[in-house]
Amino acid sequence: MLCLTGLLSFAQTNTRTLTLREDNIDEVIGAMTTEEKVSLLVGGPGNLVPGAAGYTREIERLGIPMTVLADGPAGLRIQPKREGTDQTFYCTGFPTSTLLASSWDPALVETVTTAMGNEVLEYGVDVLLAPGMNLHRNPLCGRNFEYYSEDPLLSGKMAAAYVRGIQKNGVGTSVKHFAANNQEINRLENDARVSNRALRELYLKNFEIAVKEGKPWTVMSSYNKLNGEYTQQKHGLLTTVLRDEWGFDGIVMTDWGCKDNTVKSAKAGNDLMEWGKQVEIDRILAAVNSGEISQEELDRNVRNMLNYIVKTPHFRHYNYSNKPDLKAHAAVARKAAEESIILLKNKEKLLPLEDDCYKKVALYGVASVDFVGIGTGSGEVNTTHIANMQEAMKEAGFTLDEDLAEYYRQYVAQQQTIDKMEQSNRWKYRNIREELAISAKAIGLQAQNNNVAIVVIGRNAGEGTDRTLKDDFELSATERELLQNVSTAFHALYKPVIVVLNIGGVIETASWKHLADAIVLPWSPGQEGAHAVVDILTGKVNPSGKLPMTFPIDYMDIPSSRNFPYRWDMTKGRKGDRKSVDYTDYAEDIWVGYRYFLTNREVSYPFGYGLSYTTFSYSKPKVKADKDGFTATITVTNTGKVAGREVVELYVAAPAGGLEKPARELKAFAKTKLLAPGESETLTMKVSAYEMASFNEATSSWETAAGTYQVLFGTSVEDICTTASFRLDKAQSWKVQDVLGKPEE
Ligand code: BGC
Repeated sequence: MLCLTGLLSFAQTNTRTLTLREDNIDEVIGAMTTEEKVSLLVGGPGNLVPGAAGYTREIERLGIPMTVLADGPAGLRIQPKREGTDQTFYCTGFPTSTLLASSWDPALVETVTTAMGNEVLEYGVDVLLAPGMNLHRNPLCGRNFEYYSEDPLLSGKMAAAYVRGIQKNGVGTSVKHFAANNQEINRLENDARVSNRALRELYLKNFEIAVKEGKPWTVMSSYNKLNGEYTQQKHGLLTTVLRDEWGFDGIVMTDWGCKDNTVKSAKAGNDLMEWGKQVEIDRILAAVNSGEISQEELDRNVRNMLNYIVKTPHFRHYNYSNKPDLKAHAAVARKAAEESIILLKNKEKLLPLEDDCYKKVALYGVASVDFVGIGTGSGEVNTTHIANMQEAMKEAGFTLDEDLAEYYRQYVAQQQTIDKMEQSNRWKYRNIREELAISAKAIGLQAQNNNVAIVVIGRNAGEGTDRTLKDDFELSATERELLQNVSTAFHALYKPVIVVLNIGGVIETASWKHLADAIVLPWSPGQEGAHAVVDILTGKVNPSGKLPMTFPIDYMDIPSSRNFPYRWDMTKGRKGDRKSVDYTDYAEDIWVGYRYFLTNREVSYPFGYGLSYTTFSYSKPKVKADKDGFTATITVTNTGKVAGREVVELYVAAPAGGLEKPARELKAFAKTKLLAPGESETLTMKVSAYEMASFNEATSSWETAAGTYQVLFGTSVEDICTTASFRLDKAQSWKVQDVLGKPEE
């Protein structure tokens, strides 16, 4: 009898289904059938969280749950309404990445994404498909608003902070789109032809920083090719560089559409095919059976997947509430916009508008009503509401010219009805609603009846296509006429004109900026951004944002403009052969943004630029070299009359000789706390020798030359306040594998 009981319990233990735990991953892999393993590598259908972008597949018998992937980066994108319930599932629309980068404040970004990540968790999502972090190679890229900067250091630091904030919540991120996905036109097939130096120093550098300092759970490979090979199939990129060199230990997933050669993707180290199709399972299975994919390769990808899955809320059976605190998060979104908005111009200290006479405002521009909070495509967020400038100004006690306000409201309402009739959805590209013409006579009367004019210029953009030069980068004829007439009429009566740039990416400013007394740049600032703009106008908040990219004088001044499809007609021609459409030569090499402009062209506004309502002084800096680079300290004092924050930008100029380098490069930055008038803060910035290295293609190595380095402390790349220098006695180098391919001639 005794013996029988013993046997029974032995049998129960062994037939008891093995279930996945953090510490038995290899055992689970050992118990999986080949079909089960393969199924884990291909995304699947699901409806756990309506509106989520994708799922991973469940294997019930082994306790492997389905996990949920949904978009960002300006917030979580899920469907706000569901069948069979009155409950809603709205998310917070935080400021877009370009505005967050304008804060130059990683701690702020981390606070924002800590709140954002809470929504990811509480809505039952495991991974936020963000941050987007492709460099702003060209201002016309339709997704630049989802990205940070033209500079890899600023971009990398912002992305790392973003990742840390989200992942603090026990949910994951996916840094995307890896790599060289710098245009939307023909994004699925375009071959980015980039030198190894430009890749290493620019287009991969930001990802390197984000991976090393943020430790994202996942990375998303891009759609495009890089030097002739799809990035999702590029072993050198996804395994040698990402994992072996940078130490990435998460999963790589494809962007939403795995290419036909699924087998090559799997072998390259692309663990998960999204959105996932049966044919991809069939292909991988056949390759495993034929030996084309080895057991080790299969198990390596499966192990990566399981290591990811055991970290997810679904694996932990997290009981999500579907009720994040949207009110608290709205306050975070507003504060983030306030801390990031850039003041580009402030003639005769017009702003802040302290005098009560300025309460009578003529508010112009379709975007004053149809305010662009975020952008279109997968980066859009379903928010309860996007505040616009009309309501934000009224809420702050301004009196608007009501006839004018009503005129814009009616036009926007009409346009929205047309959208509805045409069933336009959010994926339909719309760069801007056409601006409304207003007669010079009407503007003349408005100038008599109001004391200040505010013109909101709006631009939208989004996934799937790029912006155009005409009527987008450049103002449209109607916008130009409106600005001119407003400026003439108001200035004739000594009344000021303010322009608010509610734009997703850089526009031309040089030809019209003289028409405005003040220019405020909130980019696409999220659902509360309009309130933040008004807080800047009134002086409730002192602006402290700085440009994360250059504003050129002319589009053709931009080195990449010759290799970018900036007119629709450029997309025509023989498929496979179209320059800048089927393939794009990154002929400007490392000379992107300020790296080029500083020594070659005057600009409208330089990288790093932004004004404040106060002034700051910089102490003599201290720079101390050590074996591993240097440490700089500098004391900033608020010398003005109102409290404010200052960003110190640290640039390094390398000694002559060796590789040709930009005149100076951003190597560190720091932002003060809010300094009261007279108050000081000492900032410390550390830069390692590796961070100062340039990439030598001939030897496939990073090299930091010996010699005297200049350290420049500036308020923009052009405005250097003080400098110091140090000597690096010994040259250093770091060899890496030459695995990224070469651009075709
Ligand atoms: C976009 C990604 C996005 C994915 C899922 C793709 O088309 O390029 O950024 O995460 O769709 O929605």
